[in-house]
Amino acid sequence: MEQSIHTLPRVLIDEASIAARLDALAVEITDFYRGKPLTVVAILSGSLLFAADLLRRIPLPLQLECLNVSSYNGLESSGVVHFLDDRLPSLEGRCVLLLDDILDTGLTLDEVRLKLVSEAGLVSMHAAVLLQKRKARAREVCADWVGFEIGDKFVVGYGLDYEGEYRNLPYVGVLEASQVRSRNSGKS
Ligand code: IMP
Ligand code: MG
Repeated sequence: MEQSIHTLPRVLIDEASIAARLDALAVEITDFYRGKPLTVVAILSGSLLFAADLLRRIPLPLQLECLNVSSYNGLESSGVVHFLDDRLPSLEGRCVLLLDDILDTGLTLDEVRLKLVSEAGLVSMHAAVLLQKRKARAREVCADWVGFEIGDKFVVGYGLDYEGEYRNLPYVGVLEASQVRSRNSGKS
């Protein structure tokens, strides 16, 4: 692997803080969905770790679906959300909880919402995100549960990637400018 321990991103939110916040979110979400036909839709790949750790704290019967979407190019939102699956999950009669890693421009959550709401028979739709950037959004969309609000900076780890890497970091970190420059050099 190209990144060594000397080049790991700076810690922004450590493992213990993530675990404590997930405990609290899980209690709220469990109370909200008790007795309801819950389907969790995890937006991949970014929400993979968040979903795995959050769902293990929710002691309810639920169904899990995954939706593969992509919108980012390196450090920037491409402005277009690509749906990479052949089919959408069947959500008839279900209370849907969308999970995403981060609310940035709002484009992804809004497009996924619009696409799934157009499916007939869905009972309700809410969203939980691990992170939310403090900024003006391109789309008026908000999450019902937010793990952490952060500044408008590019973060990696705990599911979030830069050019496909860093998703496996157990914490949320910030790339130093030198890490971005050195990784970009020779590519364009
Ligand atoms: P949005 O559509 O602009 O709200 O961004 C949503 C998606 O962009 C997220 O699900 C992430 O995959 C990606 N993204 C946004 N900000 C970051 C970041 O700071 N680091 C890594 N990925 C990000
Ligand atoms: Mg991403």
